[in-house]
Amino acid sequence: MKSVTLLGSTGSIGRQALDVIQAFPERFRVTALAADRQVELLARQARAFQAETAVIGREALLPELRAALAGSGIRALAGMGALEEIAAAPCDVVLAAMVGAAGLRPLLAAARAGRTIALANKEPLVAAGAIVMETVRAYHATMIPVDSEPSAIFQCLQGQDRGGVAKLLITASGGALRDLTPAQLAAVTPEAALQHPTWTMGPKITIDSATLMNKGLEVIEAHWLFGVPLAQIDVLIHPQSIVHSLVEFRDGSLLAQLGLPSMRTPIQYALGYPERLPHNWAPLDLATIGSLTFAAPDFARFPCPALARAAALAGGDTPAVLNAANEEAVAAFLAHRIGFLDIPALVERALTAHRLTPEPSLEAILAADAATREMVGHWIGER
Ligand SMILES: NC(=O)c1ccc[n+]([C@@H]2O[C@H](COP(=O)([O-])OP(=O)(O)OC[C@H]3O[C@@H](n4cnc5c(N)ncnc54)[C@H](OP(=O)(O)O)[C@@H]3O)[C@@H](O)[C@H]2O)c1
Repeated sequence: MKSVTLLGSTGSIGRQALDVIQAFPERFRVTALAADRQVELLARQARAFQAETAVIGREALLPELRAALAGSGIRALAGMGALEEIAAAPCDVVLAAMVGAAGLRPLLAAARAGRTIALANKEPLVAAGAIVMETVRAYHATMIPVDSEPSAIFQCLQGQDRGGVAKLLITASGGALRDLTPAQLAAVTPEAALQHPTWTMGPKITIDSATLMNKGLEVIEAHWLFGVPLAQIDVLIHPQSIVHSLVEFRDGSLLAQLGLPSMRTPIQYALGYPERLPHNWAPLDLATIGSLTFAAPDFARFPCPALARAAALAGGDTPAVLNAANEEAVAAFLAHRIGFLDIPALVERALTAHRLTPEPSLEAILAADAATREMVGHWIGER
């Protein structure tokens, strides 16, 4: 029986993780759950899974959470300190499934407590990869990727000699807009960009998939998780989303992990690791799928992966600036305040304006994040 703390339980990953936990009542139990604003759903989940603690990110919502949990015996807490507290508290797995760099402090708290962390929340690793990985190493924490592409790479690397790795190939569906012309991209609405062809995910990552920023973030994520240089990590367009990523070895062999485009599989793998638990959905039928296709990405129409790579190569606090600018731009696009092509334009402008801090402390990264959000917010307001 593994005890699981779930940060971001009301989101797309969080709800699917609870489905997995529900499917294996003899394997998993919930210790604590956390969300940001969906009080009612959080309280229902906490009651249904008999959690010990429920945390709401927004402190103003604590009275509402307390009322929703009245008589249940479940502890109701709020705010960043409480998120850090449950991330560090004893449990077998902390599933980090909040969205954005907001998950950085709880992730570090879990790492400092030496926890096993199932990581879906990639933005903290993008913003502060060196600090997160140093903390994981120093406190003997364990990191198991949940994101389908890093999960695929993690699976392909099991039992392999790391010295034999030549390249990581991260696949991308290409998103909802992969065939549009630049003029069509300029006119894209949030509603259209939210129609992902193969995956059902939360709004931020769905827009990141449409801009291909998600691949840029995953290249940085894979660099930190697997210690592979950026020059040895490539992106490959694969519209069917069946091959979740590949590892090329120096003898020319490629290993790939295949599966249906459902996050249930990598979530279940990460929670059950090292054991593979049985699935209860239809198996992948390659004969029915027929063909799998691959193509090089078009970085001229979709500049975000190149911006992400440039930020990672610049190092220091630059990836934190990239991430913060992207989070603000995506939120403004979803709120109909800017156009689709303004997302890469704002990220590029933030990177151009940035003055590098080469070896930033956590405080310096948080300061760069905050300053970038303010600056990008100001630029959006001017439009
Ligand atoms: N969805 C996928 O299929 C997928 C695949 C691979 C990787 N990922 C990564 O997984 C992460 C989660 O993605 P998602 O699609 O599940 O996002 P989502 O549907 O937007 O859910 C985000 C979750 O985080 C909570 N949250 C946000 N800010 C918070 C804060 N400040 N304090 C506490 N809780 C907070 C939200 O609570 P409320 O609901 O109350 O706002 C919600 O539970 C992202 O980093 C994403 O890149 C997702």
